[in-house]
Amino acid sequence: MSKIRLGVNIDHVATVRNARGAAYPDPVRAAEMALAAGADGITAHLREDRRHISDADIDALAAITRRRGRPLNLEMAATPEMEAIALAHLPHAACLVPERREEVTTEGGLDVVRGHNQIAPVIGRLAAAGIRVSCFVEPDPAQIAAARECGAAVVELHTGAWCDAARERSPDAAALLAKLRAAAAQAAGLGLEVHAGHGIDYETVKPIAAIPELVELNIGHFLIGEAIFIGLGPAIQRMRALMDEARSVRAA
Ligand code: PXP
Repeated sequence: MSKIRLGVNIDHVATVRNARGAAYPDPVRAAEMALAAGADGITAHLREDRRHISDADIDALAAITRRRGRPLNLEMAATPEMEAIALAHLPHAACLVPERREEVTTEGGLDVVRGHNQIAPVIGRLAAAGIRVSCFVEPDPAQIAAARECGAAVVELHTGAWCDAARERSPDAAALLAKLRAAAAQAAGLGLEVHAGHGIDYETVKPIAAIPELVELNIGHFLIGEAIFIGLGPAIQRMRALMDEARSVRAA
Protein backbone atom coordinates (compact mmCIF):
# COMPACT_ATOMS: atom_id res chain seq x y z
CA MET A 1 0.00 0.00 0.00
CA SER A 2 1.23 3.48 -0.75
CA LYS A 3 2.24 5.98 1.87
CA ILE A 4 -0.57 8.04 3.38
CA ARG A 5 -0.13 11.82 3.67
CA LEU A 6 -0.26 13.61 7.01
CA GLY A 7 -1.77 17.08 7.20
CA VAL A 8 -1.06 18.70 10.56
CA ASN A 9 -3.75 21.04 11.84
CA ILE A 10 -2.12 23.82 13.86
CA ASP A 11 -5.33 25.60 15.00
CA HIS A 12 -4.81 24.85 18.66
CA VAL A 13 -1.43 26.52 18.81
CA ALA A 14 -3.47 29.65 18.08
CA THR A 15 -6.01 28.62 20.75
CA VAL A 16 -3.25 28.70 23.37
CA ARG A 17 -1.90 31.99 22.04
CA ASN A 18 -5.34 33.60 22.08
CA ALA A 19 -6.03 32.43 25.66
CA ARG A 20 -3.66 35.21 26.77
CA GLY A 21 -3.99 37.58 23.84
CA ALA A 22 -0.21 37.26 23.44
CA ALA A 23 1.90 36.89 20.31
CA TYR A 24 3.02 33.37 21.24
CA PRO A 25 2.95 30.44 20.72
CA ASP A 26 3.02 31.22 17.00
CA PRO A 27 1.09 28.81 14.73
CA VAL A 28 3.35 29.77 11.84
CA ARG A 29 6.39 28.56 13.78
CA ALA A 30 4.44 25.37 14.53
CA ALA A 31 3.73 24.95 10.81
CA GLU A 32 7.45 25.31 10.01
CA MET A 33 8.30 22.71 12.67
CA ALA A 34 5.55 20.37 11.48
CA LEU A 35 6.86 20.43 7.91
CA ALA A 36 10.42 19.85 9.15
CA ALA A 37 9.19 16.88 11.25
CA GLY A 38 7.52 15.09 8.35
CA ALA A 39 4.09 16.65 7.88
CA ASP A 40 3.14 16.61 4.22
CA GLY A 41 0.98 19.69 4.53
CA ILE A 42 -0.56 22.21 6.90
CA THR A 43 -4.23 22.46 7.72
CA ALA A 44 -5.85 25.46 9.35
CA HIS A 45 -9.47 26.38 10.02
CA LEU A 46 -10.34 30.06 9.77
CA ARG A 47 -13.56 30.19 11.74
CA GLU A 48 -16.14 32.91 11.38
CA ASP A 49 -15.56 33.96 15.02
CA ARG A 50 -11.71 33.82 14.64
CA ARG A 51 -11.48 31.94 17.94
CA HIS A 52 -8.10 30.46 17.02
CA ILE A 53 -6.60 31.08 13.57
CA SER A 54 -6.65 34.75 12.49
CA ASP A 55 -6.64 36.36 9.08
CA ALA A 56 -3.01 37.35 9.64
CA ASP A 57 -2.17 33.68 10.40
CA ILE A 58 -3.71 32.65 7.09
CA ASP A 59 -1.67 35.32 5.26
CA ALA A 60 1.51 33.99 6.87
CA LEU A 61 0.64 30.29 6.45
CA ALA A 62 -0.19 30.82 2.78
CA ALA A 63 3.17 32.54 2.31
CA ILE A 64 5.32 29.92 4.06
CA THR A 65 3.60 26.92 2.49
CA ARG A 66 3.96 28.53 -0.95
CA ARG A 67 7.63 29.29 -0.29
CA ARG A 68 8.24 25.69 0.73
CA GLY A 69 6.13 24.21 -2.05
CA ARG A 70 3.93 22.39 0.48
CA PRO A 71 0.15 22.27 0.47
CA LEU A 72 -2.03 24.46 2.65
CA ASN A 73 -5.47 23.01 3.33
CA LEU A 74 -7.85 25.79 4.37
CA GLU A 75 -10.82 24.50 6.35
CA MET A 76 -13.71 26.88 5.87
CA ALA A 77 -17.45 27.31 6.01
CA ALA A 78 -19.09 27.73 2.60
CA THR A 79 -19.87 31.41 3.21
CA PRO A 80 -19.25 34.42 0.96
CA GLU A 81 -16.68 35.81 3.42
CA MET A 82 -14.62 32.61 3.51
CA GLU A 83 -14.93 32.10 -0.22
CA ALA A 84 -13.47 35.57 -0.81
CA ILE A 85 -10.56 34.81 1.54
CA ALA A 86 -9.87 31.48 -0.19
CA LEU A 87 -9.95 33.14 -3.61
CA ALA A 88 -7.56 35.84 -2.39
CA HIS A 89 -5.02 33.27 -1.11
CA LEU A 90 -5.55 30.38 -3.51
CA PRO A 91 -4.52 27.60 -1.08
CA HIS A 92 -3.77 24.19 -2.57
CA ALA A 93 -6.96 22.83 -0.99
CA ALA A 94 -10.10 23.99 0.73
CA CYS A 95 -12.12 21.70 2.95
CA LEU A 96 -15.73 22.79 3.38
CA VAL A 97 -16.91 22.20 6.93
CA PRO A 98 -20.12 22.95 8.82
CA GLU A 99 -19.81 25.71 11.38
CA ARG A 100 -21.97 26.64 14.31
CA ARG A 101 -20.89 29.43 16.63
CA GLU A 102 -21.77 27.57 19.82
CA GLU A 103 -19.90 24.35 18.99
CA VAL A 104 -16.58 23.54 20.67
CA THR A 105 -15.23 21.84 17.55
CA THR A 106 -16.60 20.78 14.18
CA GLU A 107 -19.46 18.58 15.30
CA GLY A 108 -20.60 16.26 12.56
CA GLY A 109 -20.06 16.50 8.85
CA LEU A 110 -21.36 18.96 6.31
CA ASP A 111 -24.94 18.30 5.19
CA VAL A 112 -24.22 18.29 1.46
CA VAL A 113 -27.55 16.62 0.69
CA ARG A 114 -29.58 19.52 2.09
CA GLY A 115 -27.03 22.19 1.23
CA HIS A 116 -26.49 21.17 -2.38
CA ASN A 117 -27.84 24.39 -3.92
CA GLN A 118 -25.62 26.57 -1.76
CA ILE A 119 -22.52 24.35 -1.75
CA ALA A 120 -22.26 23.39 -5.43
CA PRO A 121 -21.72 26.97 -6.70
CA VAL A 122 -19.07 27.62 -4.02
CA ILE A 123 -17.24 24.46 -5.05
CA GLY A 124 -17.55 25.51 -8.69
CA ARG A 125 -15.96 28.92 -8.08
CA LEU A 126 -13.16 27.59 -5.85
CA ALA A 127 -12.37 24.76 -8.28
CA ALA A 128 -12.37 27.19 -11.22
CA ALA A 129 -9.66 29.13 -9.37
CA GLY A 130 -7.56 25.93 -9.16
CA ILE A 131 -8.32 25.03 -5.53
CA ARG A 132 -8.84 21.34 -4.78
CA VAL A 133 -12.12 21.27 -2.88
CA SER A 134 -13.13 18.67 -0.36
CA CYS A 135 -16.31 18.21 1.67
CA PHE A 136 -15.99 17.08 5.28
CA VAL A 137 -18.77 14.50 5.60
CA GLU A 138 -19.98 11.75 7.85
CA PRO A 139 -19.33 8.27 6.43
CA ASP A 140 -22.84 8.28 4.98
CA PRO A 141 -23.51 7.04 1.43
CA ALA A 142 -25.97 9.86 0.63
CA GLN A 143 -23.53 12.59 1.75
CA ILE A 144 -20.70 11.08 -0.27
CA ALA A 145 -22.86 10.84 -3.39
CA ALA A 146 -24.00 14.44 -2.86
CA ALA A 147 -20.40 15.67 -2.52
CA ARG A 148 -19.61 14.04 -5.86
CA GLU A 149 -22.69 15.61 -7.46
CA CYS A 150 -21.66 19.02 -6.11
CA GLY A 151 -18.35 18.76 -7.93
CA ALA A 152 -16.00 18.09 -5.00
CA ALA A 153 -12.71 16.42 -5.94
CA VAL A 154 -12.21 15.06 -2.43
CA VAL A 155 -14.22 13.92 0.56
CA GLU A 156 -12.80 13.98 4.05
CA LEU A 157 -14.52 11.39 6.21
CA HIS A 158 -15.35 12.45 9.78
CA THR A 159 -13.66 9.92 12.05
CA GLY A 160 -14.84 11.49 15.33
CA ALA A 161 -17.63 9.05 16.16
CA TRP A 162 -15.42 6.02 15.62
CA CYS A 163 -12.47 7.51 17.54
CA ASP A 164 -14.71 8.28 20.54
CA ALA A 165 -16.27 4.79 20.44
CA ALA A 166 -12.88 3.10 20.12
CA ARG A 167 -11.43 5.03 23.09
CA GLU A 168 -14.49 4.22 25.21
CA ARG A 169 -14.29 0.55 24.16
CA SER A 170 -17.91 0.92 23.03
CA PRO A 171 -19.68 -2.06 21.46
CA ASP A 172 -20.54 0.29 18.56
CA ALA A 173 -16.90 0.73 17.56
CA ALA A 174 -16.69 -2.19 15.12
CA ALA A 175 -19.77 -1.08 13.19
CA LEU A 176 -18.53 2.53 13.03
CA LEU A 177 -15.18 1.41 11.64
CA ALA A 178 -16.97 -0.77 9.09
CA LYS A 179 -18.96 2.31 8.05
CA LEU A 180 -15.75 4.29 7.50
CA ARG A 181 -14.32 1.45 5.41
CA ALA A 182 -17.45 1.21 3.28
CA ALA A 183 -17.57 4.99 2.86
CA ALA A 184 -13.95 5.11 1.71
CA ALA A 185 -14.60 2.36 -0.84
CA GLN A 186 -17.76 4.09 -2.09
CA ALA A 187 -16.02 7.46 -2.43
CA ALA A 188 -13.03 6.03 -4.25
CA GLY A 189 -15.42 4.11 -6.53
CA LEU A 190 -17.04 7.44 -7.45
CA GLY A 191 -13.62 8.81 -8.39
CA LEU A 192 -13.22 10.98 -5.30
CA GLU A 193 -9.92 11.30 -3.45
CA VAL A 194 -10.53 10.17 0.13
CA HIS A 195 -9.19 11.84 3.27
CA ALA A 196 -10.12 11.36 6.91
CA GLY A 197 -9.80 13.26 10.15
CA HIS A 198 -11.09 14.36 13.53
CA GLY A 199 -10.28 12.98 16.94
CA ILE A 200 -7.40 10.78 15.78
CA ASP A 201 -4.69 9.92 18.33
CA TYR A 202 -1.89 7.33 18.61
CA GLU A 203 -4.41 4.69 19.66
CA THR A 204 -6.87 5.21 16.83
CA VAL A 205 -4.60 6.12 13.93
CA LYS A 206 -3.61 2.64 12.76
CA PRO A 207 -7.05 1.16 11.94
CA ILE A 208 -7.84 4.38 10.06
CA ALA A 209 -4.54 4.55 8.20
CA ALA A 210 -4.99 0.89 7.20
CA ILE A 211 -8.09 1.74 5.12
CA PRO A 212 -6.57 1.36 1.66
CA GLU A 213 -8.52 4.07 -0.16
CA LEU A 214 -7.39 6.82 2.20
CA VAL A 215 -4.65 9.08 0.87
CA GLU A 216 -4.53 11.73 3.62
CA LEU A 217 -5.22 12.13 7.32
CA ASN A 218 -5.66 15.52 8.96
CA ILE A 219 -4.74 15.52 12.64
CA GLY A 220 -4.57 18.44 15.05
CA HIS A 221 -5.78 18.53 18.63
CA PHE A 222 -4.05 15.39 19.86
CA LEU A 223 -0.71 16.34 18.28
CA ILE A 224 -0.74 19.84 19.75
CA GLY A 225 -1.62 18.40 23.17
CA GLU A 226 1.10 15.75 22.93
CA ALA A 227 3.58 18.45 21.93
CA ILE A 228 3.29 19.85 25.48
CA PHE A 229 4.84 16.65 26.80
CA ILE A 230 7.26 15.47 24.13
CA GLY A 231 7.56 18.36 21.66
CA LEU A 232 5.79 18.90 18.35
CA GLY A 233 8.46 17.30 16.17
CA PRO A 234 8.61 14.00 18.12
CA ALA A 235 4.78 13.84 18.35
CA ILE A 236 4.47 14.19 14.57
CA GLN A 237 7.27 11.70 13.96
CA ARG A 238 5.57 9.13 16.18
CA MET A 239 2.21 9.65 14.44
CA ARG A 240 3.95 9.39 11.05
CA ALA A 241 5.63 6.13 12.11
CA LEU A 242 2.29 4.64 13.23
CA MET A 243 0.70 5.61 9.92
CA ASP A 244 3.56 3.99 8.05
CA GLU A 245 3.34 0.85 10.19
CA ALA A 246 -0.37 0.60 9.36
CA ARG A 247 0.56 0.62 5.69
CA SER A 248 3.71 -1.46 6.15
CA VAL A 249 5.72 1.37 4.61
CA ARG A 250 9.37 1.29 5.55
CA ALA A 251 10.67 4.52 7.08
CA ALA A 252 12.70 6.46 4.48
N1 PXP B 1 -10.42 17.58 9.63
C1 PXP B 1 -11.38 18.52 9.76
C2 PXP B 1 -12.25 18.81 8.59
C3 PXP B 1 -11.55 19.24 10.96
O1 PXP B 1 -12.52 20.17 11.08
C4 PXP B 1 -10.66 18.98 12.03
C5 PXP B 1 -10.78 19.77 13.29
O2 PXP B 1 -10.49 21.10 13.04
C6 PXP B 1 -9.67 18.01 11.84
C7 PXP B 1 -9.58 17.32 10.65
C8 PXP B 1 -8.69 17.69 12.92
O3 PXP B 1 -9.34 17.17 14.02
P1 PXP B 1 -8.54 17.00 15.39
O4 PXP B 1 -8.10 18.37 15.79
O5 PXP B 1 -9.54 16.40 16.30
O6 PXP B 1 -7.36 16.10 15.11
